[in-house]
Amino acid sequence: MLAHVFQALFQHSTPLLFPDITYSFYPVYCGLYGIGYTTIPLANDFTLRVADYRRPNGGIIFANPNAPTGCLLSLADIEWLLTHNRDSAVVVDEAYIDFGGDTAIALVDRYPNLLVTQTLSKSRSLAGLRVGLAVGHPELIEALERIKNSFNSYPLDRLAIAGAVAAFADRDHFEYTRRAVIASREQLRTALGEFGFEVLPSAANFVFARHPRRDAAELAAALRQYGVIVRHFHQPRIEQFLRITVGNPEQNAALLAVLGEVLESRRWRD
Ligand SMILES: Cc1ncc(COP(=O)(O)O)c(C=O)c1O
Repeated sequence: MLAHVFQALFQHSTPLLFPDITYSFYPVYCGLYGIGYTTIPLANDFTLRVADYRRPNGGIIFANPNAPTGCLLSLADIEWLLTHNRDSAVVVDEAYIDFGGDTAIALVDRYPNLLVTQTLSKSRSLAGLRVGLAVGHPELIEALERIKNSFNSYPLDRLAIAGAVAAFADRDHFEYTRRAVIASREQLRTALGEFGFEVLPSAANFVFARHPRRDAAELAAALRQYGVIVRHFHQPRIEQFLRITVGNPEQNAALLAVLGEVLESRRWRD
């Protein structure tokens, strides 16, 4: 669905705007569809400054909460962005919104330039189903439908649709799992803080953390030797950070035990 969004809404002579640190697929789709883009640096605390997006553009896309930082943009800021970019399609990618943010779907009725996208891969735990959805003004949806039907009229099979419908019907399971992830995330944040990590406030199902005295790439490599995989990005501005997935309490405990050993090992001691 995101691929269709890029093809349907972003092919213009002025560049698409998105943050310098965000979901890595945005530049990939731009390359695939020949869309020019400009990246806008996040602030030093990795928050998105909406005022920086007040410039000519052929569309705006950002993830809220952002990946891999987990930082959340408020609905008031999103509304500011929409009012100052009325001639552009503004796409809010809410892949992780259920882990701590308010959805921008409430703004769709008032802003015909807003498209909100979500996926069943994260908070619904159905990544293998391959179902995503978009909510927006009928004209934006019509543009998406046209691209979809030119690609394949039936990209979702009946089993996937049945699974998606069942997932939305089961509110209790959804609430239970999403609250469990949020509680587990906050425990992980606190525990990492006790190990000396700086942990960015996260509204997602991962945390983004850096240790003031430990090299992130070496830490990731050391953890991997114990079978614990965290994500390190060889990318300017974030090369000292690790993105750590929030596990269940047992998985978090396993991570923290290994981390304790790694940080205490002779090689690392101050
Ligand atoms: C910000 C963001 N948007 C969208 C997606 C797409 O997820 P999927 O293709 O599994 O629906 C991801 C997955 O990692 C993501 O991080």
